[in-house]
Parts: sequence; structure tokens; C-alpha cells
Amino acid sequence: MKITVVGAGAVGATCADNIARRQLAEELVLLDIKDGFAEGKALDMMQTAALLGFETKITGSTNDYSKTANSDVVVITSGLPRKPGMTREELIGINAGIVKGVAESILKYSPNAVIVIISNPMDTMTYLTLKATGIAANRIIGMGGILDSARFKCYLSLALNASPNDLQGFVIGGHGDTTMIPMTRFATYQGQPVSDFLDAQTLKKVAADTMVGGATLTSLLGTSAWYAPGAAGASLVEAIIRDQKKLFTCCVSLNGEYGQKDICLGVPVVIGRNGWEKIIDYPLNQEEKTSFDKSAEAVRNMNKVLYDMKLV
Ligand code: 2OP
Repeated sequence: MKITVVGAGAVGATCADNIARRQLAEELVLLDIKDGFAEGKALDMMQTAALLGFETKITGSTNDYSKTANSDVVVITSGLPRKPGMTREELIGINAGIVKGVAESILKYSPNAVIVIISNPMDTMTYLTLKATGIAANRIIGMGGILDSARFKCYLSLALNASPNDLQGFVIGGHGDTTMIPMTRFATYQGQPVSDFLDAQTLKKVAADTMVGGATLTSLLGTSAWYAPGAAGASLVEAIIRDQKKLFTCCVSLNGEYGQKDICLGVPVVIGRNGWEKIIDYPLNQEEKTSFDKSAEAVRNMNKVLYDMKLV
């Protein structure tokens, strides 16, 4: 197996590091536009192989896409991260052109790759990749929901003083501070609703903290987060490479599911070797449905910018 990560910044490098540690491929390529940067990160990571016990061969490339040829999975992290006070949506003007160029270059050398999108605004970048490349929808997956669900479980575990691994919980909708929807009603502690353990006010706070999970880190760090986004990307890559049939919330193309069309949005999907294989239909109540429709409207408005920019 061969995996490429485009963008050797904090998120891309962390994602690559997790991919190597999990020994997901024989070959891992890190590509960046900054001269020598990906080569340096790749070599640094390769030097951990004897310490961490993996055999993956990691190479770096300065913008030479021929080195990425025949990749099975490609992760796109390119573009600017957000700064404190910035929304993910404000990045669209710069990142859209970058992501489109990257997706086209990747497909030139790896026409059958499954593409994972991490670049922000993630829902719109996923839609852009779908529209601009015209490849099968199941091969394009936006990572956001896995990250948001992990943050949801993190805040739930802190509130419950429980292991995050004993919790089930997921977040649907957009990967934006106001567009994501933590599905508190379906969250359980080993099968028992979390509402049996936590009062409504605490659950509200868990959901609110989840929604601004990324923004909280951006204001603390001065740039956007990387450990959780990188690990979330690697978990998605693992589910693809190992054909795990894992149920993750990911941003995928909707064609009538959850009442939406011509949009990429976070919903629960089964992930396997071919990308996303099946959308799982959870019965939303009226409040959840209203939130989902509002989220779709906000993402659709953002997608309009792509048409204004003549990128799709
Ligand atoms: C985050 O939420 C980078 O979008 C990513 O941290």
C-alpha cells in the first residue's frame, strides 16, 4: 500500500506520523510546496522507525507529484490554518484554489486513489473536490466529523470521569463552530444513555464545548490544532486501508439522504477499502432535523463562493 499526505505542516506531519506508527503502508510520501520541508519532516520521521518499531518507508517531496504516483489513499491538508478569532469559513478564498490544484495534480498520478480532505473549510473543500474532479463520490471523504466526534467523547469523558473508550457519541452536520450538531440523544456510556448520568445543563455545556473545540485550541495555540486533527485523519486512513467497515461520521456527498442533495455534509457512514460505502440513516427528531437543515443552508451558502470564484 502507498499513502500520500499533501501538506507537511503541523496537521499533515502529525497525520503522517500516526500513519507510520500504525504501519498502514509500505510507502508514505509527504509533499509540500516549501523547499526541503517535506523531505526534512520525512527524514526526521524515518529516524523514529527503529525507536517506534515500524517499517514504513517515508519520503518527502517538494511539489513533485510524480513521487506520489499510484497512491492508494491521499490525504489533503494543504492551505492556511485559521488564526485566533477567525472562522474556518474565512479561509475559503485562499484555500479553495490551493485544494483544487492539489486534487488535480494528485489524480494525474494516482487516478484510483481515495481522497481524504482535511483542509478548511472542510465541507466546502470536500464539495469542491467532488465537483472539480468528477471522480466517484464514494472516493472523496471529508474528515471533520471524526474529529468533532472525538472531541465530543473527550468532553463527555471529562464530565463523566469515564474512559473516552467506553463512550459512544457522534457529531453530524458541518465542521463549523455553528454548523456541527453533537448528537447528545444518541450518546451512551456502554449502551446506557449519558442523560442517565449527566443533567441537561452539563450535557448542554458538553455540546457547546464540542462545537467550539477547534476555536478554543486556536485561541490557546495561536494557530489551529494538530494532534487531534492528525490522529482523526490517520484513523480514517486506517479504516480505508484495512477495509475496517467502521462507522464514522464523515463529510460525504448527499443525494437525498437526510433530506439533502448537491452538498457534502457530515453523516454516519461505513468506511472501507473503496472509501465511504454506505450512509447510515439515523431517525432525527424535529429539533435535530431543523439543526441539520440549518447547517446545510450555511454550508450551501459557503459553496456558492466556489461558483462565484469559477472554481466549479
Ligand atoms: C480543527 O477543528 C483543524 O479544523 C480543524 O481543529
